[in-house]
Amino acid sequence: MGKMMSYLTGGVVMSSMCLGDRLGIFEALGQHGPITLKDLAEKLSLNERLLREWLYHSVSVGVITMHEDKYSLSPVQKMAFTNEMHSPLYFLGGANLATVMGQETSINRSAACFRSGEGAPYETLDVSVHSAISRFLAPWKRHFLVPTLASLAGGKDALEAGAKVGDVGCGYGESLIAIARAYPKAECHGFENCKLAVAGAYKRLEEESEEVRKRIHYHTCGIDGSGIPDDGSFDIFITNDCLHDMAFPTKVATAVKRALKPSGFWLAEEPVCMDDPRENITKNPVAGVFYGASLFACLPSAMSGQGGSGEAHGAQRLTPSVANKMFTEAGFSKVTIHQGAIHNNPFGLLYEVRP
Ligand SMILES: C[S@@+](CC[C@H](N)C(=O)[O-])C[C@H]1O[C@@H](n2cnc3c(N)ncnc32)[C@H](O)[C@@H]1O
Repeated sequence: MGKMMSYLTGGVVMSSMCLGDRLGIFEALGQHGPITLKDLAEKLSLNERLLREWLYHSVSVGVITMHEDKYSLSPVQKMAFTNEMHSPLYFLGGANLATVMGQETSINRSAACFRSGEGAPYETLDVSVHSAISRFLAPWKRHFLVPTLASLAGGKDALEAGAKVGDVGCGYGESLIAIARAYPKAECHGFENCKLAVAGAYKRLEEESEEVRKRIHYHTCGIDGSGIPDDGSFDIFITNDCLHDMAFPTKVATAVKRALKPSGFWLAEEPVCMDDPRENITKNPVAGVFYGASLFACLPSAMSGQGGSGEAHGAQRLTPSVANKMFTEAGFSKVTIHQGAIHNNPFGLLYEVRP
């Protein structure tokens, strides 16, 4: 029962974190804490009685800090809950995702898939889920993707010289934005089969400078990678957390191979998982999060639009040996797997894939 109580508490905490995020309470605590309830309520123009409930709740679950009659954030709480664009440990995107994935519409959507045996593409996910996925995955890209690319053989030189970079399943485009910001000559192209994601990507791009905006372009592609240029003109390709969502990842990998220069490379980030499902279930610390996300987004997407003929991996079946086979079938000759400290990503396996 202890475990159930902690899951129950966790579910509620995710939602109350979203409330605190929406009301600006975390940012205000970060800037003005230690602060009394009265002063905080005044600063935020919030109802004192309701705010006290939120503060007591958040102290009781260790999300914020209380000392005598004042509230604040510890250094780690500040990193997790404030300064979204600059904190590598920003967590509220995760709380956002857990909350919107648990909505009634999302549960009904997946229940329909279970009953019909058919999938459901990203297009049918509420836009709040798209934006939460992007927020959840963005911190790693903002802080670690660019140094990781630059650390791979030929990466830094290509980026400095004005690399042509592609990103399939680019979502709201945070990876391309990070690259375009860091390398002023890079030319970036995002490919998506979901029109909602493309619209979200263009909207997100409006927040960037004209200089960055003019070097990022988004394109709609087919679920089999059709629409990705086959002219061998790209220096670098990236994919973040999306091959496992695809109906035909091997076809998309083949399209990436055709798009890349012989001297280019592809960095594919996929969820950590192990070849043996029993070992994965019992030993992979992030299996619970990913199998859960797979129920609501990844596997329905991977099963959609292919009439049962696709690969349909979902978040935990594109394992290292499955991925290696896929890259080989797509015509790549060298695959190196990076995990852990090299790229500060406890959730992801990084595949460095070369023609
Ligand atoms: C989990 S999201 C990741 C988005 C983005 N890479 C990120 O890290 O924020 C997966 C994305 O893959 C896209 N996707 C799924 N199947 C696709 C396909 N066959 N071709 C292109 N994009 C696809 C979805 O529309 C979705 O935006």
